[in-house]
Amino acid sequence: METFALQKARRRSAVDVARLDRADLSVELGGGLQLSNPVMPASGCFGPELAPLLDSAGLGAVVTKTVFALERSGNPAHRLTETDSGMLNSVGIPSPGAEGFRAGLLRRYQQLGPPVVVSIGGLYIEEYWEIAEALDGEDVAAFEVNVSCPNLEHGGITIGSSADMIGEVVAGVRERVEQPLWVKLTPTVVAIGEVARAAEAAGAAAITVCNSFPALAVDAFSRRSVLGKGGGLTGPAVKPLALRLVRDAAAAVDIPVIGCGGITSAIDVVEFMIAGASAVQVGTATFTRPDAMAQIISGLDPLCRRLGVQRLSDLVATLDSPVPDRSS
Ligand SMILES: Cc1cc2nc3c(=O)[nH]c(=O)nc-3n(C[C@H](O)[C@H](O)[C@H](O)COP(=O)(O)O)c2cc1C
Repeated sequence: METFALQKARRRSAVDVARLDRADLSVELGGGLQLSNPVMPASGCFGPELAPLLDSAGLGAVVTKTVFALERSGNPAHRLTETDSGMLNSVGIPSPGAEGFRAGLLRRYQQLGPPVVVSIGGLYIEEYWEIAEALDGEDVAAFEVNVSCPNLEHGGITIGSSADMIGEVVAGVRERVEQPLWVKLTPTVVAIGEVARAAEAAGAAAITVCNSFPALAVDAFSRRSVLGKGGGLTGPAVKPLALRLVRDAAAAVDIPVIGCGGITSAIDVVEFMIAGASAVQVGTATFTRPDAMAQIISGLDPLCRRLGVQRLSDLVATLDSPVPDRSS
């Protein structure tokens, strides 16, 4: 017959095993920032108004819509259209401006609980610096520099298409804020490794790969573009494109990569991590299922068990195939 002490020890060891079996989902994102899990919203795809529809306190972090120093309205409707396995948007750059953001929206993001990452943009290089200066001292875990904005001082060329402009923007923001900087790269560049290295050299703690892909939807009957000049393609249609960029960017830099593009499931998260991402952002999936991120997070622990990994971050950059040369 088992003694009471033996029964107690047996119960304790069962609990220990259960505890041990629970996967460690935490991730490190550079600059001392640790998240409880790797899943966060992509900029512009989640706001405090959606918080009641999911366990938003359980998100790894929350990333705000890109905010500009000046107040601006976005593009007129119609701004979204569905495409095969994806979505095209031309929301433009609506922004409450630095002061409006600080007094209103930022406080609401901060009340959600997870670390807040503020996405900042600019239509000229100094505008990035102005918004950084305006938000310096705020309770913000990190800034994400959205370099997929047109530089209106240089004929509208996308800042993220030039390693030099990325370097200038990021170095200037780096001087103005203490928090870790993430740089969210533009996908349509000649060599993702080159722009990734420019961001790293200018002081980025991590890079996000990537923003939406310039695309066009055509209506055969009216022979018109469905969304004006075109828009940004997102959703499952872009996942293989983003995965490749993540793999190539991760091979080029020593800082963490945050994967973004078409993620809708826990399996997608793991695929991005294997390709080199340390964390992920979820955008379009939230438009179809507002609680998509919560569902993805709850799927990670069972998936880790199936894959036999105790620590999710052990999967990062474990792709079993050749990685590109660092010089590419
Ligand atoms: C409606 C909409 C608005 C967006 N707004 C922003 C934005 O303000 N800043 C930004 O960096 N990216 C923005 N994005 C791009 C997303 O953050 C993300 O990079 C892109 O949607 C790819 O991820 P997904 O395929 O999971 O949607 C937006 C995307 C959508 C669909």
